[in-house]
Amino acid sequence: MEFVINTLLLMAALFITVIGTAMAFLVLVYWRDRLQTKNAIHRNYPVLGHMRYILKEMGVFFRSYFFSADREELPFNRFQRDFVNSMADSRGGVIAFGSNYPLHSAGSIRFANSFYPTLEEDVLHVKKVTFGPDTAKPYTTQSYFNVSGTSYGSMSGSAIQALSAGAKLAGAWHNTGEGGFSPYHKKGGGDTVFQIGTANYGVRDEHGDLDYDKLAALAEDPQIVMFEIKLSQGAKPGKGGILPAAKVTQTIAETRGIPQGEDSISPNRRKDVGNAEELVALIKRVRETTQKPVGIKFVPGRTKDLDGMLEAFQAHKVFPSFITLDGADGGTGAAPAALMDHVGMTLDESLPALMAKLDETGLRDTILVCTSGKLVTPAEIAWALSEGAVAVNSARGPMFALGCIQALQCDKNTCPTGITTHQKRLERGLDPEVKSHRVANYLTNTKKQVGYIAHATGANCARSMRRDRVFRIGEDS
Ligand SMILES: Cc1cc2nc3c(=O)[nH]c(=O)nc-3n(C[C@H](O)[C@H](O)[C@H](O)COP(=O)(O)O)c2cc1C
Repeated sequence: MEFVINTLLLMAALFITVIGTAMAFLVLVYWRDRLQTKNAIHRNYPVLGHMRYILKEMGVFFRSYFFSADREELPFNRFQRDFVNSMADSRGGVIAFGSNYPLHSAGSIRFANSFYPTLEEDVLHVKKVTFGPDTAKPYTTQSYFNVSGTSYGSMSGSAIQALSAGAKLAGAWHNTGEGGFSPYHKKGGGDTVFQIGTANYGVRDEHGDLDYDKLAALAEDPQIVMFEIKLSQGAKPGKGGILPAAKVTQTIAETRGIPQGEDSISPNRRKDVGNAEELVALIKRVRETTQKPVGIKFVPGRTKDLDGMLEAFQAHKVFPSFITLDGADGGTGAAPAALMDHVGMTLDESLPALMAKLDETGLRDTILVCTSGKLVTPAEIAWALSEGAVAVNSARGPMFALGCIQALQCDKNTCPTGITTHQKRLERGLDPEVKSHRVANYLTNTKKQVGYIAHATGANCARSMRRDRVFRIGEDS
């Protein structure tokens, strides 16, 4: 009996303490809100006013998990994310009962199926393409779906290793992005396209200029198959990369050739490329130094801006081996919303325009076109191939395969999935071996579905699809 009474007394004491502490806390918050002058809501509605901000934060999760329809969310909707996951798990890819794709909405992609689709037995292996056949070390590949550049720095080492190893398993290539060639790329072992960003990370001298000796030494590595000079990126044309000091670890600093623990800000344009003539000179010198295919990556602002560039290539008879055409709706680790939302052409405008220019100038077979910009599903990839691209690169598709949940925290070093963080506690959740298989499965299984579309249109491989068999709703067909 005594035991029961003592327990009840203890519980009552505990209850009073908890309630008392909570009340004291609320009184403190009340007076802090009342006395401060910065926030009018808190001053006018002490304590209660905090609910607005809590609900605003929580709203992101509620919308994502409960309220948004499958095809509604941005930048990627649930359908797209679930699709990548099912491909990465090698399951699904088949839906029942009917489509919830907005079949009639303007811009929706539609392929013209043939009365006589390609028979399974007539399906060809995907045609190979050779980049830089006029260089000493060209690169020949069958791969048309590859991993787009995400710098080591914006991404964790484990994520980079998994992407590179995944690309290797799938026979694809992996672009370094602007952060240099790290030990994690080396561990992953995939064919690597080295991106020379505006800050020349990984190949810079003490002034930040391109160090051609370092470039030549790097080009000796057989893992690096091509070089890509970045002029601009869809998410932030006219703005360089931003890596906050918190993410600049010792290995990142060593890989990039910059001081540790300081913000890593790339210039908004290459210092040595202020016009088309200087671009030509740079392509020529990088090609002579590396002896490997050299391409350029950009997002155009308008179609006619392409003319001057193509004219300069023709005048000097110097051509990039490839152009990576990025779309305005591309992703990034960090960029001002003003640029992300409002600057640059989207791929549905720029890709057909670029292909038309290359046809007019007779350069279609000289300058191969790769493309990136929210192309994560088979229809989007098949559209780009039909328009004339030889390859599609995806950054965020493989990131979803790594486990990205679109938490939108790439710039904060707090990514809960260990992909865009250097906090060891979070990065340990990402097992590079396991995730490399998911990346490979995503690339391979998605290509299978691109193949289904190709065969329905009567083409015998993904690279044989043609422009006259794809259209967007609202366009003349
Ligand atoms: C986290 C992150 C980092 C990126 N880093 C780079 C980079 O260093 N260099 C670059 O050219 N593009 C970079 N990108 C852009 C992608 O390579 C790609 O061009 C763009 O996101 C469009 O492809 P996607 O829609 O498949 O992501 C980055 C994208 C993301 C999401």
